[in-house]
Parts: sequence; structure tokens; C-alpha cells
Amino acid sequence: MSRTRIVAVRGRRVWDSRGRPTVEAEIELARGAIGRAIAPAGASTGRGEALERRDGGPRLCGFDVQGAVAAINGTIARALIGLAAADQEAVDRSLIALDGTPTKSRLGANAIVATSLATAQAAAAAHGLPLWRWLGGAAACTLPLPEIQIIGGGKHAAGRIDLQDVLVVCPGAQSFAQALLWTAEVYHAAGALLAEAGRLKGVADEGGFFPELESNEAAIALVARAIERAGLRAPDQVAIALDVAASSFGCNGRYHLASEGRTLDTEAMIELLSSWIARYPIVSIEDPLAEDDPEGFRAFTARFRSRIQIIGDDLLVTSAERVRRAAREGWCTAVLLKPNQVGTLSETAAAWQAAREGGLGGIVSARSGESEDTTIVHLAVGLGVPQLKVGSLARGERTAKWNEALRIEEALGPRARFAGRAALRSAPGANGQVRL
Ligand code: PGA
Ligand code: ZN
Repeated sequence: MSRTRIVAVRGRRVWDSRGRPTVEAEIELARGAIGRAIAPAGASTGRGEALERRDGGPRLCGFDVQGAVAAINGTIARALIGLAAADQEAVDRSLIALDGTPTKSRLGANAIVATSLATAQAAAAAHGLPLWRWLGGAAACTLPLPEIQIIGGGKHAAGRIDLQDVLVVCPGAQSFAQALLWTAEVYHAAGALLAEAGRLKGVADEGGFFPELESNEAAIALVARAIERAGLRAPDQVAIALDVAASSFGCNGRYHLASEGRTLDTEAMIELLSSWIARYPIVSIEDPLAEDDPEGFRAFTARFRSRIQIIGDDLLVTSAERVRRAAREGWCTAVLLKPNQVGTLSETAAAWQAAREGGLGGIVSARSGESEDTTIVHLAVGLGVPQLKVGSLARGERTAKWNEALRIEEALGPRARFAGRAALRSAPGANGQVRL
């Protein structure tokens, strides 16, 4: 206990990849070990997410976080000092009780998630271990299959197309490093195709190309052509994944495709996705329908579950309870795991546990507003979650995470396993001895 006794908790304002303020928490332990973590921020947030605390008012467009920082330095510090950082669940329970609201809005989910993750980092540091090893023990040896954005749309690209992400996965790669290498070839081929068409205008929030394209389908077709141009075979080596993020443009069973000037009902939306699945090498679709349309999710999943992975993000918001319901009712086949959607590391681990028990796959995910923090990569390896999604292959807040995974793969040496193709199937085997 003494080695991981918390002696100081500090909060500070730092900056995220959209130039907005965010919260960093720093936990110091009795023998000097220090852990830090930075809260990320979403743009296409689910309605059921834990709520971040922002100051409002005219400064910094209301995005300042002085209240959340003060909560860490005051209420949270007083409650945590003296606790053992090694007892993550006790620390998280205390954060949840201290906040006392179902949405974590009093202290702020940004203050809470930064503190929770910093606690884990500090405990790992006190044991001289990287976080993935501290969480997963000797069983943690699987590198996740990365899902990497090539085109960014939706709320991450001013609504230029309705689809939020056109991504690639590399089910045929033999290692994490090879998956990044293949993806880099595809990313640059996509850039070259856009440049040749006079449509290369820059990148969206997560580093994927900003879509100066005439339709949603044109973005998918472009990525399919880029895979071909890179000399890779689809879908066995490299395949396409979509995050439709349909809650951003759909509600009450109406889906307004603003970039194409038409509105579809649930059935027509499913037909549109079906036509893309038939014509492009698509192996995974996230949020095909809106968060208020679980029946649509269920119909879509019943029809396509044997062909593609179907991921719930806004619908499930990393809530163990919702994940159990999704498994029971057949809403999707995999769960996106974003620690700041729920607020603590223990609750994120509980959502993953619920997914495994329900036979669902899992993907640890970053947010569109990110930082150099790489904690989520350690969570994927440490908790045995077989997929990872952190945006594109460009921009430092994204590459920080991909590069950290490369370091972990190298540190594991011959013991490293790559989740590969099997990650896309439901109910993948997870580590035997995760700490949470
Ligand atoms: P967000 O988007 O971080 O803006 O919510 C990421 C996602 O939808 O997966
Ligand atoms: Zn999503």
C-alpha cells in the first residue's frame, strides 16, 4: 500500500488538438511515482454520455475548464489523498460517490476521467511497469487491429459529407507495424488521387482528408480506388470500415443527408448501406443508424451480422448496462469503448467485460478532440481489447498513439501477437488475468 499511497493530486489546464482547453490530472504517490492523463473531447457525442464540465461564458467560446481543474485541485484531491492508487476500483468508486450525479456533471466527467486514468498511470509507474503490463500482467501480449481514418466527414469536417469516417482496416497484416505500413500506402494513394482531381484541400479534425467530394458514396469509392492504387488486395489484405455516426444527421426515424439534399427513413437508410456493402469491400460499420433507433440497429444487424461487424457507439456510450441490453436484443456485434463517455477506467473495463460476456467484440476509441496522451493504447493491450481506433495516420495527437503501439509491439518481441482478422469476429478471446 505505502508504495502507491496517493500524496498529491494536481489538475491543470492544457490544450487539445482543436486548440480548446482541456484537463490534465497528475497523481503523485508516496515514493515519488507520478501518473498523468489528459481528458479528450468528442464532437459527435452520444446523448447518454457522461457530461464534461465547461465554464461557459464569452471567453474561449465557453470551452474553458477552470471549474473542472478547480474540482481536481480541491474536492477530488481531498478525497483521494491517502487512498492506494493500486486499488483502481476504490479510487473510481470514490470519484463516482463524490460526484453523486448520474451524468458526472457536478465535478465534470473531464475532471473524473483524467483523474481515474492518471491514477492507473501512477500505480503502474510505482511498480516500474508500463500501464499495459500493469493492467494485463503477463497475459497482455495482443496488439489490436487498428481502424484508421482515410477521409473525415460529418461534424469533423463541417458537414461536407454526412458520413463521419471512411476508414481502413488491415485484416491480412501479420503485425501492427505492417498494418500501419499498408495503411500509410493507402493514405498517400488517397491523397494522390485527390490531388490529381484538384480536390486536395487539407485534413479534417482527426487527420483524414477533408472531403471535397460530391457525395457520400464518392468518399467510399475513393478509398476503394486508393487501396487498389497502393497495390493491395481488398478485402483480404486491406478493407473498408465506416463510422456513419448517424445520430449526427438522423432522429425520429428520419435521416437527413444534407450533402446530398435528401431525407431517408430507417428502411431506406438500411437499403443505402446495403447497396454500399454489396459494391465495396466493407467489413465494419459503426453507428449505421441513430442512437434513438435501436429497432433500426436490430433490423440492420439481423440482416448483416454474418457479413460485417456492426459497432455501437452513441447507442451504447460505454455503459455496461446498455452493452448487456445490446447483446440481449441483437442491436450490434461490437462495442466502441471510450473512457470519457462513462467517466472512469473501472466502468470502461466493466463495459468491456459485459461485451465479452454477451459475445460482442470491442474497439477502444479516441475522441475527435485529442492530445498527446497515449493511455488508451495501454488500455487496449492491457485489457485485451482486440481493436483500436484513434483517427487517421496524420497529426501528432493521432501518431502519438499509433507510435506507442509500435513501441509496445517491439517491447513484447517474439511474445507479441497481432489480433488481425480474428478481431473482427464477435466474442474474441481476451486475456485471462486482467487486473480490472
Ligand atoms: P467524436 O467522434 O469523438 O467526435 O464523438 C468519434 C466517433 O464518433 O467515433
Ligand atoms: Zn462513432
